Amino acid sequence: MLVLSGPNLDRLGRREPSIYGTATLSDIHGRLERLAKERGAVVDCRQSNHEGMLIDWIGEAADAGFEGLLLNPGAFTHTSYALYDALRGSGLVAIEVHLSNPDAREEFRRRSRVAPACAARVAGFGADSYVWAFEGLLALLERKAKPKA
Ligand code: DQA
Repeated sequence: MLVLSGPNLDRLGRREPSIYGTATLSDIHGRLERLAKERGAVVDCRQSNHEGMLIDWIGEAADAGFEGLLLNPGAFTHTSYALYDALRGSGLVAIEVHLSNPDAREEFRRRSRVAPACAARVAGFGADSYVWAFEGLLALLERKAKPKA
């Protein structure tokens, strides 16, 4: 599965730790890589501050054989119709991930432009949001691979 994090998430650990915690993005990527190994899954973890880069990666992901996506779009969550379109066009099973709970913060964070293109959302668990989202996405992909009769 592809794991994408958007703008300012490269600064995790130093960025508003009272909201986002002290784990760095590379700590989170390390946890996901270890978990993936245990589960026999493959993760490819990337971050970009650039909307177009995230869109390119989402567009290429299906062709590259990825089935699932964990996406923390950062503030692009609240603004980006282009990310919404990219998700819709990708055919990937996508989970929206947030460290904080955007619904419990400022008004502008209460709208997600990407949510209608995602299968689920995990928010508010700090760095653990990525871990729960990983587990949830694996379960969804397994269910998709073995549909009940
Ligand atoms: C965030 C929430 C967004 O509202 C914010 O702009 C971020 C981080 C989160 O992970 O809690 O950059 O996506």
